[in-house]
Amino acid sequence: MTKLRTEGLTKRFMGLVAVNDVSFSMEEGEILGIIGPNGAGKTTFINLVSGIAMPSAGRIEYKGRDITYAPAHERARMGIARTYQLIHPLENLTLLENVMVGSIFARGNGLKEARRKAEALCLELGLADLERETTRLTILEIKKMEIARALANEPEVLFLDEVMAGLNADETKDLIATVRRVAKERRLAVGVVEHVMGVIRELTHRVIVLEAGELIASGPYEEVSKNPRVVEAYLGGAAVHA
Ligand SMILES: Nc1ncnc2c1ncn2[C@@H]1O[C@H](COP(=O)(O)OP(=O)(O)O)[C@@H](O)[C@H]1O
Ligand SMILES: [Mg+2]
Repeated sequence: MTKLRTEGLTKRFMGLVAVNDVSFSMEEGEILGIIGPNGAGKTTFINLVSGIAMPSAGRIEYKGRDITYAPAHERARMGIARTYQLIHPLENLTLLENVMVGSIFARGNGLKEARRKAEALCLELGLADLERETTRLTILEIKKMEIARALANEPEVLFLDEVMAGLNADETKDLIATVRRVAKERRLAVGVVEHVMGVIRELTHRVIVLEAGELIASGPYEEVSKNPRVVEAYLGGAAVHA
């Protein structure tokens, strides 16, 4: 079942076209990689789909419903969640409270229900000592907290914007397994932005490649990584096989 679909999605900032005529779709249970050099429009694309930014042209559909101009909080309530490239833990809140925020805002849960849900999610993601302040967490724990907060929305579609950045090899492995498990159990459609191609290769069923706002290729990683246009887009930047 198609969860999310865009058609001709475009975002202009003054003279710059950050996202240019992008049509794509994401299926239930699918983990989709979104790759492309720095400045390709990946974060902007997620902003458009999650309602943080409004498109200049094009259309966005969620489960067949037009949400092109729906406000962000409405999309969150419908089941579209995301994490942010620049993580923003609420520093005077505890780990648990940071996760509770997700279900209080998006789901309108009361405190008690939000707490119960947040505790269950933390347990599921392997987070302990939930009364710690976020300044005491490791990077891996912060990343998991961000994912737990997004999951507290009870999403059907989840975007992860460079969640693996800053992790070492073991932590990356841990987070790949975690993402795969939570996605599978919930039949989530997941959009993963990552620069480390090993992560994309291991985690995703399919990738789309953005370059200067345009979707230049789409398909399984093994196929797309051999596409001459994709290889060229990465020349001088991160090598596709790095
Ligand atoms: N709010 C904004 N105002 C102006 N330009 C922006 C804004 N957000 C992003 N851009 C520009 O849009 C392009 C795509 O950025 P971004 O979506 O962050 O790329 P990526 O996530 O792929 O690195 C870049 O050239 C960036 O400078
Ligand atoms: Mg980005």
